[in-house]
Amino acid sequence: MLIDGKATAQEILNEIKAKVAVLPGRKPCLAVILAGENPSSHIYINRKIQACAEVGILSRRIHLPSTATEEEILQQIAKLNADPTIDGILVQLPLPGNINPNKISLAIRPEKDVDGFHPINVGKMLLGQTDGFLPCTPLGIMTLFERKGIEMTGKQVVVLGRSNIVGKPLAAMLMQSTPRSNATVTVIHSLSRNVKEICRQADVLIAALGKPRFVTADMVKEQAVVIDVGINRIDNPSKPKGYEIVGDVDFENVQSKCSWITPVPNGVGPMTIACLMGNTLKSYLLSLDKAA
Ligand code: GUN
Repeated sequence: MLIDGKATAQEILNEIKAKVAVLPGRKPCLAVILAGENPSSHIYINRKIQACAEVGILSRRIHLPSTATEEEILQQIAKLNADPTIDGILVQLPLPGNINPNKISLAIRPEKDVDGFHPINVGKMLLGQTDGFLPCTPLGIMTLFERKGIEMTGKQVVVLGRSNIVGKPLAAMLMQSTPRSNATVTVIHSLSRNVKEICRQADVLIAALGKPRFVTADMVKEQAVVIDVGINRIDNPSKPKGYEIVGDVDFENVQSKCSWITPVPNGVGPMTIACLMGNTLKSYLLSLDKAA
């Protein structure tokens, strides 16, 4: 069965909109910083700002040139950190090569780090503490499992990819001793051996490695759950734009083997944005608690 991430994300956005509508006083606000002209980053940022407008969260877009220095970005972050009307700060990745993303993540106040990239929030996630922020893409995937009633307890879950944004945090979340987790997790990376054999053992196979159609039907167990995090642009002269967006899974051939599968687009992508809205509202509500 197809997991309609767009529909589930819309349900979440509607719930957030209803909660924001009844907030007394100021509305939550998300600040997004973009450095440079990466076309995909522009698209993602626009979607995030559009989602803010849809749920009634305010947004502030800060666009710096590709020549921006680390110091300039850090100055912007310092201003937003100090501004009590800003609840969330997000710096879109990837950053231009001269900028160290670790330094940027560290500069954002952990209480406003709605991406969940600050080491304090990464630590809280590993420890299973719930007052931090979980990164939006893995959180979106966990939320899909929860809302679709897809049980993780005791399952063999294989995660393809060990990025700081998806693979690593997702593995950490799946292994927690909470009712929605409790999985047995294997993480596959570029130096792993016997990749196909390991994937074939998976009850749940999650592809987050950024290689177009990497997961083929022979790598998938019958009735497995397959989650596709990939967003790859590949040339295709027969398409109107001359390219198409495909996932990390060979959807056409894998679909019939799965009990559940996410499509690309309209699978995990919209869930990432819905969870960002959720994190921004969480930050706002936590700041109210602290002020009380
Ligand atoms: N680039 C790709 N995914 C993400 C994300 O979740 N957050 C940010 N800030 N940049 C990204």
